[in-house]
Amino acid sequence: MLASAADIALRGRNFLRVSDLSPLEIGMVLAVASHLKGGRGADQLPLLRGRTLGMLFEKPSLRTRVSFEVAMTQLGGHAMIAQGQDFLVGSRETPEDAARVLSRYVDAIVVRTHAHEPLERFAAAATVPVINGLSQTAHPCQALADLITVKERFGTLTGLRLAYLGDARNNVAASLAEAAMMCGISVTFGCPPSHRPSEAFLAHVQRLGKPHGATVRAFTSAVRAARDVDVVYTDVWTSMGEEHLAERNVAALLPYSVTPELMAAAAKHALFMHCLPAHRGEEVSAAVIDGKQSVVFDQAENRLHAQKALLVALLTDLRGIPV
Ligand code: CP
Ligand code: NVA
Repeated sequence: MLASAADIALRGRNFLRVSDLSPLEIGMVLAVASHLKGGRGADQLPLLRGRTLGMLFEKPSLRTRVSFEVAMTQLGGHAMIAQGQDFLVGSRETPEDAARVLSRYVDAIVVRTHAHEPLERFAAAATVPVINGLSQTAHPCQALADLITVKERFGTLTGLRLAYLGDARNNVAASLAEAAMMCGISVTFGCPPSHRPSEAFLAHVQRLGKPHGATVRAFTSAVRAARDVDVVYTDVWTSMGEEHLAERNVAALLPYSVTPELMAAAAKHALFMHCLPAHRGEEVSAAVIDGKQSVVFDQAENRLHAQKALLVALLTDLRGIPV
C-alpha cells in the first residue's frame, strides 16, 4: 500500500513532463500498472467504459499510437486518431482553439508534436487531461514504461546506476533522466560536447535526484559513462524532425554506439534498453539489441501497462484499485 487515492490526486491533471508528477505519484502509477498487468482483462473493462481518448499525432508512431489505442480498448473505452493533414498544431487554428474544441468531445487527449511550446499552450487551454505522446523536449510515457521494466528486473529502483549514450539532448534522454533521478537512479551521460545536456538541465535533474541520493554526470568518454552501471540505454542518433542534422550526428555520435565491447564496461548483470525504433549498426550493434541483456521488447510491452495506469489515474478516482 503506497498511499491512499485521496492522498494522491492525479484525476484531471496533465502529463507533459515526468516532473509534472511527484515521486510519490510516479510510484503510484507504477503500482497501478503492475496491478493491471497482473490482472484479468475482464475486471478492467469497466474502468474507462464510455470514455474516449483523442490522439493527435504530428509525427509517425507505432508503439505510442497502438499501445494507447489498445489500452483504451482493454479498459472498455475508445480511442480515435487525427494525424497528418487533420492535425498540425497551430496550422489550421491556434493550439488553444483546437484544445477547447476537442475538450468538448473527448475525455483525454494524447498529443505528439514537434515543438514543445504549442503543446504547453494546447494543454493550458484544454479542460480535459492532456498527455504528451512525445515532443521535441520530452517523452514522459516512455520513461514510465522504462521505470516499470527496470523495477521488474531489479526489484527496486533506488541505488541503481544508468548510463545514457548518444544524443543526450533529446526527448527520451531528458524524460528518462528526470524519471530515473526522481526514483533514486543515478545517471551518467556519455556524449560529445555537441550533444551534452545543458548545464541548466543537469542542475534541474540534480535537484530532482538530491532527496533520493541520486547524482548525474556527463562524460565525453563512452566507456567512462558506462563503467559498472546497471543499465545501458540509447536512442536513435537523429530524432524525428531533425533529419537535416543526420550527417553531423553520425560523425559526432559514432564513438557512442553501444557495442558488445561497450557493454563489457558495464556491470555483468547490466540491461540494455532502447525506446525503439532502433537502427542496428548505428546507435546499437545487432549483437547487443538482439542479445541476452536486451529488454527492449519488455519496454515496448510496458508502454501498454504504464499508459493504462496513467489513463485510469487521470480519469478516475482509482476506486477498487489496491494502491
Ligand atoms: N518508443 C516510441 O515512442 O515509439 P513510437 O515512435 O513508435 O511511438
Ligand atoms: N528520440 C526519438 C524517439 C522516438 C520514439 C525521436 O524523437 O524520434
